[in-house]
Amino acid sequence: MAETLVLLKHRDVPGIENIDIYEQHGGYAGLKKALAMERDAVINEIKTSGLRGRGGAGFPAWIKWSGIPKDTKKPHYVLCNADEGEPGTFKDRELMLKLPHMVIEGMIIAAYATQSAKGYIYIRGEFVESARSIRRAIDQAYKKGYLGKSICGKEGFDFDLYIHMGAGSYECGEESALMSSLMGERGQPRLKFPHAPLPIHEGVWQSPTLINNVETYAAASQILAHGGAWYATMGTENSKGTKIISVSGHVKKPGNYEVELGYPVLDMIELAGGVTGGKLKAVIPGGSSVPIIPAELCKDFKLDYDAHQVVQYSMRTMRLPVVGSGGFMVFNDKTDIVVLMRRTAEFYTHESCGKCTPCREGTRWIFKILSRITTGGGLPGDIDLLVNICDQIDGRSYCGLGDAAAWPIMGAIKHFRHEFEYWIEHKRSPVGEDCLPPAPEPLNPLLTLTPV
Ligand SMILES: Cc1cc2nc3c(=O)[nH]c(=O)nc-3n(C[C@H](O)[C@H](O)[C@H](O)COP(=O)(O)O)c2cc1C
Ligand code: SF4
Repeated sequence: MAETLVLLKHRDVPGIENIDIYEQHGGYAGLKKALAMERDAVINEIKTSGLRGRGGAGFPAWIKWSGIPKDTKKPHYVLCNADEGEPGTFKDRELMLKLPHMVIEGMIIAAYATQSAKGYIYIRGEFVESARSIRRAIDQAYKKGYLGKSICGKEGFDFDLYIHMGAGSYECGEESALMSSLMGERGQPRLKFPHAPLPIHEGVWQSPTLINNVETYAAASQILAHGGAWYATMGTENSKGTKIISVSGHVKKPGNYEVELGYPVLDMIELAGGVTGGKLKAVIPGGSSVPIIPAELCKDFKLDYDAHQVVQYSMRTMRLPVVGSGGFMVFNDKTDIVVLMRRTAEFYTHESCGKCTPCREGTRWIFKILSRITTGGGLPGDIDLLVNICDQIDGRSYCGLGDAAAWPIMGAIKHFRHEFEYWIEHKRSPVGEDCLPPAPEPLNPLLTLTPV
């Protein structure tokens, strides 16, 4: 099955990051159409399209857009989440770099639909080139009258767009932490609904705020250009349209691929040129937080929002997502899954913001246990201990980072328990001597390590 290019259709056109070339290829047509419509009709178009948020959770975009209050006593804000911290995901970076106007156009459409006069693109600090591309595009859009006062001559519709650079924290991609960071506060999450108002009622500066992912806005521009009904012809019943999948790992042609939602996992590997360096062992299909799928089960999975994996804690059963943010990592049979999980745990330990106990302590404990297992010091009860700790993190942490840290470990234990057992019993890697890992890098010494 080939790619279905909607957002990435013109990515290889020389100069497409410039406004003139973007316009020559249909750019800003969606905005012009939107401005000729009533605001509610724009939201209706998004509803018809079935677009779901591309940041990971797959929440229907139109519900957020229509939830912004109609009165404008308080200012309204449109935020673009361009933090893209999920390991394995690199689509937003490419969209901003090559198609910055598509993202900006989608944000202007959202601003029009939600009566917002100001917008911010919160960009991960490391994405310097992408930020430069967005900067140039914003300047061009102002010159052409797509940003600023009375956009495209539409009286009463003013929209200013700003860039805010993050400092490279995974947690600042979580929407409430992102808003705190944007306001100059520490990048930690806030209390969530139902204990606190939704961002659409009280987001940044206690004002109604729409927050969506880069790809979600880019898709909105194409939906307005070509129609919601057209977009809804692609994908599946509950997962409409296309999704950009970032393929990495042991494949011949890593990179971003745009496919219809519902694309089979095995076809995705073929599209990226097939497995290199050995046979397929497993796939992490949606970013590092998503549970791993072993090779023999890959045929059963498609990349859409209905696809789930079930993991069993001691007392609970959880259905966990498959498509996530679209970070598709392929592993050949030389991969040591326990070492892979140790590396993953190290990441989450480092990125835990420390606000809540289950995640702050639990992620460190997981990392410590996996470190001792993969350096030959594993204990017989370590696997059960890992399951127990994951059980106490998942759903009991203050924000989704805790869950994201627990899910991959649970997935790996479910499918590759024998590799954990092998490590503990034989004190070496089940995939061969040359896969023995170096000693784990020390964590930030300023962080307290509670003994496990
Ligand atoms: C720990 C954590 C990190 C996240 N990182 C990102 C991110 O980098 N980019 C993103 O778009 N969404 C991220 N999200 C999801 C956002 O909180 C939010 O759901 C998303 O920006 C909404 O946009 P969407 O509806 O268009 O997907 C993260 C969530 C969590 C819990
Ligand atoms: S789960 Fe808790 S410690 Fe972890 S990032 Fe969220 S708030 Fe911070």
